[in-house]
Parts: sequence; structure tokens; C-alpha cells
Amino acid sequence: MSETRKNTPERRYPRLKVCVNFRAGDVLPSCGAKGSRELAQSLKEEIAKRGDFISLETVHCLGKCHIGPTLKLLPSGPFLQGAQAADAACIADLLQAESYDILEHKFANPDEFETVQKKP
Ligand code: FES
Repeated sequence: MSETRKNTPERRYPRLKVCVNFRAGDVLPSCGAKGSRELAQSLKEEIAKRGDFISLETVHCLGKCHIGPTLKLLPSGPFLQGAQAADAACIADLLQAESYDILEHKFANPDEFETVQKKP
């Protein structure tokens, strides 16, 4: 796990975890096999351009492997699913603006979205 920490106590979510777990093959899915390592690098660069306003941590598995790449805001924040490196600037902008509702909608868990859509 690598980590870049900044003292940002005023932010609602001062930390962002990015799963970079890589599993080769098709038996088990992984965020690393779906572009999360490139996403983590792009996020690191975009966050740095904006003054390192949030700490970025790379981790190995957040338990949502089938819908990754998986991001998690801390403490107790939402998961963000399915982002790619091309989304890094947008994510950094929304995080900096603390536009968490837009982030959650744009990178929603597809399983939860489907459940909500199926409710009568
Ligand atoms: S491999 Fe990323 S959440 Fe498990």
C-alpha cells in the first residue's frame, strides 16, 4: 500500500482509497485488470495539480472486485465504481468541489442502481 497524506481535517472525506489489486486470467475479476492502476496514477497527478487537497491511498481489494475499478472515500464515505483513467480530471474536480452527490451518481454501484430501478 502506498499513501500520500495531507492534513485536511476540514474536508468531509479527506482520504481516497483506490484498489489496484491485479489478478491475471479470467477466473476472478480484479480492479487492476480493468485499468485501476492507470486510474490511480492519473488521479495522483490530477490531485497533485490541484494542490494535493486529498490523500490518495492504493490498496489491495475493497471487496467489490466484479464492479471495479473500485474507489472508496474515507471516513465512512461512498464507494465509486467503474471509473477509468480518462475520468481522473473529472473526479479530481468533483472531489475538490466536494460534489459528492454528483460523484456517487456518475460512478454508482451498478448492482445498487439496478436494484433501485427494479423496485415497484
Ligand atoms: S480487486 Fe478491487 S475491489 Fe477487489
